[in-house]
Amino acid sequence: MKLLLCLSIFFISSLPSSYSCNSKDKNTLLQIKKHFNNTEFLSSWDPQTDCCTSWTGIECTNGRVTLFSMANYRTLYGQIPDQIGDLLELRTLEMSHMKLTGNIPRTITKLKHLVFIFLRWNKLSGPIPDYISELKSVTFLDISFNKFTGPIPGWLTQMPKLQTFQADNNSLTGPVPNSFGSFVGSVPNLFLKNNKLSGKIPESLSKMDFQAVVLKGNGFTGDGSMFFGGNKRTVQVDLSRNLFEFDLSKIKFGKSLAMLDLSHNRIFGTLPRELTQLRLERFNISYNRLCGKIPRGGQLQTFKSYEFAENRCLCGSPLKKAC
Ligand SMILES: *[C@@H]1O[C@H](CO)[C@@H](O)[C@H](O)[C@H]1NC(C)=O
Ligand SMILES: *[C@@H]1O[C@H](CO)[C@@H](O)[C@H](O)[C@H]1NC(C)=O
Ligand SMILES: *[C@@H]1O[C@H](CO)[C@@H](O)[C@H](O)[C@H]1NC(C)=O
Repeated sequence: MKLLLCLSIFFISSLPSSYSCNSKDKNTLLQIKKHFNNTEFLSSWDPQTDCCTSWTGIECTNGRVTLFSMANYRTLYGQIPDQIGDLLELRTLEMSHMKLTGNIPRTITKLKHLVFIFLRWNKLSGPIPDYISELKSVTFLDISFNKFTGPIPGWLTQMPKLQTFQADNNSLTGPVPNSFGSFVGSVPNLFLKNNKLSGKIPESLSKMDFQAVVLKGNGFTGDGSMFFGGNKRTVQVDLSRNLFEFDLSKIKFGKSLAMLDLSHNRIFGTLPRELTQLRLERFNISYNRLCGKIPRGGQLQTFKSYEFAENRCLCGSPLKKAC
């Protein structure tokens, strides 16, 4: 009986290696290694061994490469190789924390199964290419900390599976597109902090129930109230360091709001009582034009006074100024 158990364990554990690396995929990876001048970082990519079992950053399913991850090779430069588009079964593409330049190659559109794209912390530049919209399975697109320029593409709304668009710290310009008032799939999380975006947020976004919207450090103007609403399930809103100008007194907050940063804007009015009913983890309304008594209760008095500081005439705890 014990022997039988041992034998079956042996067979089960030996199953995966019965699929060795697909020879086309292996060849593609070796070309990619050559593109990077056979860098030391890829020394484990030895043609004599199975790419699925012993090559750094590679994972396979049934012998096909499904995960490609080059990360933290901080001195490695060059462009994203065209050959990446030949890893036809790829689900996850990660090339992050390197010094990659140029744009994302068009060959990426051959990767019909691609779900996750992580290209953060490189020096990629140019406009976000239109052909990304052909990748209909992508749920997570992270191009943050690069040098992308040009507008936020309106076609992001046409990506049926998109759940998160992360483009912090680039040089994107122009407004949030009007098309963001309707997405063919679910409404994605938007992380657009530290770009050069500007203009008014389209009113149509009031229909959208974002889980997270981070617009910190841009030049947005006017109304920002469309991100709030009593029925929304939004968890995080960060509008800090913009030129938003609206009346906070009129805002209704959804029960799930946990992180609110409105600091460094031109927001006026008083703090709604309702804020005491939220389970807030982060709260910052400093450097605005708010007035009146800070409502007592909930989490509000647990925040530091500097998170309420530099307003026109706010008073009451945790500020020292009495009403
Ligand atoms: C590879 O070598 C060529 C020729 O020396 C050079 O032009 C290129 O920049 C190198 N690429 C990388 C990624 O080191
Ligand atoms: C991101 O952008 C902010 C604001 O422009 C800047 O202060 C910060 O240094 C940037 N971070 C990096 C890593 O470039
Ligand atoms: C709130 O904003 C102020 C002013 O920019 C800043 O000093 C403080 O660190 C912020 N607090 C948090 C928790 O981010």
